[in-house]
Formats: sequence, structure tokens, C-alpha cells
Amino acid sequence: MIEYRNLRIALLGGGAVGAQVARILLEQGEELADRVGAGLELIGIAVRDVNAPRSVDLPQELFTTDAESLILGADVVIELIGGIEPARSYILQAITSGADVVTANKALLAAHGPELFAAADQVGAQLNYEAAVAGAIPIVRPLRDSLAGDTVKRILGIVNGTTNFILDRMDQAGDSLQEALDTATTLGYAEADPTADIEGYDAAQKAALLARLAFHTDVPLESVYREGITGITREQIESARKAGYVVKLLAICERLTDAATGQEGVSARVYPALVSRGHPLAAVHGGNNAVFVEAEAAGPLMFYGAGAGGVQTASAVLGDLVSLARRHVVGGPGFAAAANADLPVRDIGQVITRYAVTLEVNDEPGVLATIARVFSNHHVSLALVEQSTNVRAVLVDGGDGPELAPSTATLVIGTHEATEAALAATVRDLAAHSVVTTVASVLRVEGA
Ligand code: NDP
Ligand code: HSE
Repeated sequence: MIEYRNLRIALLGGGAVGAQVARILLEQGEELADRVGAGLELIGIAVRDVNAPRSVDLPQELFTTDAESLILGADVVIELIGGIEPARSYILQAITSGADVVTANKALLAAHGPELFAAADQVGAQLNYEAAVAGAIPIVRPLRDSLAGDTVKRILGIVNGTTNFILDRMDQAGDSLQEALDTATTLGYAEADPTADIEGYDAAQKAALLARLAFHTDVPLESVYREGITGITREQIESARKAGYVVKLLAICERLTDAATGQEGVSARVYPALVSRGHPLAAVHGGNNAVFVEAEAAGPLMFYGAGAGGVQTASAVLGDLVSLARRHVVGGPGFAAAANADLPVRDIGQVITRYAVTLEVNDEPGVLATIARVFSNHHVSLALVEQSTNVRAVLVDGGDGPELAPSTATLVIGTHEATEAALAATVRDLAAHSVVTTVASVLRVEGA
């Protein structure tokens, strides 16, 4: 047996992910040591309550509430506490005390990434975070390393398992959003408070991280446009199905070129969108994640798998650990993902995409032409119009015998590409027009 020197590993957090990381480190330590060329000695696990029940049987003597002392004695710190504080302070302490760091904390990196990356850069420490985006799926290192010589044009990601599960249930089983959310909660997919999932905050954090890696540009979380899925109805899902589409909550990171100036910029945004059933992302079912990358030279690439789960996410954390432990053994500074391109982050109004607009209108002569004029006033070109006439309701007898309500029609209008600003102005005018009863739905269409 080879005698290795040991690297001291401090684990902060012994919850869903942390407990699995500890288990694998203890069970597979020898094999991992051979891969690294050094032993990986778990010196302790910092938690809030050392007596809390754990999902995995772990030696009780490893647990401590004194995270700061644990960090001081470590070569590598794995942060799996989550949230902003004290995770941020612990990571900064680890970096300044000479340790390398692995974290799965998307909320922290999306909010304080530049500060933490700069701190690591300054002392040559490594800061790895593969598990922060799409759980077990390797996507951070492929973007940082494998695609570092290519130009990423666009990323379309299903990066939140809870919302994908909900939208999939609405599509496949005809559930309402609330029914699907209840099932997700029962199955343990959704958080106790699922707001971060269904309102798109979790996906927005991941979009900020993906955009930084893809475009070598810091993308502040506040600049990520965000819409959640709470407004999505069974009717929208049903009408998407009839038209050959599926609704997915997408995190989209895109390189944009200003048509007038030729200046490059980037966009990061999260919203529910129509995706053609022929697109690879349409086949991502249940709580799975997938990231579809379009790169100039590589072309389209798809990364698919489990976006969450304690043991699945532990795989990504341990991959980061082995990778940085190898470098720790040979020496030399770590290398951060470069944010040197410093491209401007564009406002949502400048984004160009296609749209499907559903309107309830009065079924009268000239209405279609009127509606078409509203679109054309804002230079939004129509690609498709479908009309269905609605059954007329019988109104209450007002004394002169029963009356029929005026006929209405449902118009589904597909547009060619237009800016968000032009589409928003069009929708505003449509909503105010006397021939339009209701703007029933406006959805973007993504993934050509
Ligand atoms: P859990 O809530 O299951 O575990 C959190 C752990 O941190 C617990 O052991 C808790 O201690 C400990 N902790 C909390 N506050 C402190 C503190 N102040 N000092 C010391 N320890 C503390 O979280 P997860 O394991 O689910 O998530 C960990 C990280 O991984 C998060 O950043 C999350 O976003 C990320 N992640 C999680 C995924 C998942 O599927 N769960 C998927 C991808 C990323 P105690 O046990 O005593 O309460
Ligand atoms: N709540 C997240 C999800 C967990 O549903 O995808 C993984 O980040």
C-alpha cells in the first residue's frame, strides 16, 4: 500500500449533500487517495446541532459547532451550509488561511461571486463550484475548461428540477399548477418554501453563474431578468400541446450583437417559454435538468441528468474535491474562470425572440385587420394566425326575450422575431383596444 501524505478536509454542513459527501469520503477514501496522490482526511463536519438526526450514519466525533477552528486546520474546505452568511465569511476565512474551497452554494456565488473569486485569485487559491449549477451534471467545468477555446453563443437551460417537474405534470397528467406543486412537495422535490423555485429565483442565480462562465463577464444577479411559472395555466399548457410545443422554465444566456453599432453584449434571463416538441429540451421530464449549449465551433451540445438530490450532488462536490486536491499536491496557483471580456449586460427590452400571443376578440368584420395593424405599428411581423370562434352564451332575458351574447373569437398569433420592447408596446396597445376582450396569454418561443 502506498503511503500518501494527507490533505485535511473540513466539511461545513452535514445535511442532504454534506452527509453524502462525508459518507463517500469515508467509504471510498483509499480509492480517492490513489486518484489524487494524497490521502483525503476528513477532519471534521461543522453543523448547527451536533445531535441532530442525520440521513447517514457518521462517526459522532467528527461533528462540531466550531466551524472557525475547523477551517484553521484545513487544506481544503467544502462549504455545504447554503445561504449567504455565515457561508460567505467562512469561505473568505478559508481562502485567507491558505485553504482551497469547494462550494455548491449558487445563492452565495450569484450574489457575491466577484468578491469571492477576487479573494481566491489574490492568494492563488482554488474555488470550485460544479454542484452550484444543475446538481450532478458536469456543466461548470465544461464551460470553464473544455469550451474555453470556443465562443459560446447561447445557453438554454432547464436548471430547476421543481419547476420542470411541475410543468411536466401539467403537460403529461393534466394537473393544475397547485396539484403538481403538491405532488412535488409530497415527493420531496420542492423546498419547504418553494418560492425560490416557482418564482424563478433559483434559476436566475444559476443563469448568472452560467453567463459568467460562458461569456467571461461578470453578470450581476440584479441584471438577470426573471419571471416564474405561477402565471402558467392548464389552458396554456393544453394549447401549447395542440400546437406542438411544451412549456419549460428556461434560463437563457445569450451573446447579443447590436445591429446598429455591431457592439457585443450579453443577456441573462429566466422565463417560461414555448419549446418545440422536437427540441432536445422538450424531452427533459420530471425533476431532471438539462443545459443546451450552442457554441460557434462545437455546435450544439446537450448536458443532461439529475439537477438535485443529496447523493447526486455529492458526486459533483467530490469531483471538484479530487480535481483541486490533485493541484494542491503538485502545487502552483489555482486558476479562476476569467471575467476579462467585461461585456455590457443588455436590458430585457433589447432581447430578440419570437412570441405566441393569444387574444379574445369581438368576432366582427375588420377585427383581424385591426389587430394586424397594431402589430405592424410596432414593426412586429406576423408568422401565423389561427382563429377559433367561441360558442355564444345566452344572456338572461331582459324582458324582450332571451338574447345571444356578441360572438367572440380566440386568436392565436405567432410572430417572427421582434424585440421585447416592440412586443411589450404591441401588447399594451392590444390590451387597450376596444376590439380586444382579453390578452389571454403571451409566451416567448425559444429553441429554433
Ligand atoms: P441542508 O439544509 O440539508 O444542510 C445544511 C447543513 O448546514 C446542515 O447540516 C446544517 O446543520 C448546516 N448549517 C446550517 N447553518 C449552519 C451554521 N451557521 N454553521 C454550521 N453549520 C450550519 O442543505 P443541502 O445539503 O441541501 O444544501 C447544501 C448546499 O448545496 C446549498 O448551498 C444548496 O443550495 C446546495 N445544493 C443542494 C442541492 C440538493 O439537492 N440538496 C442540489 C444542488 C446544490 P444542522 O444539520 O445541524 O442543521
Ligand atoms: N430547488 C432546486 C431545484 C434544487 O428544484 O432544482 C437544486 O438546486
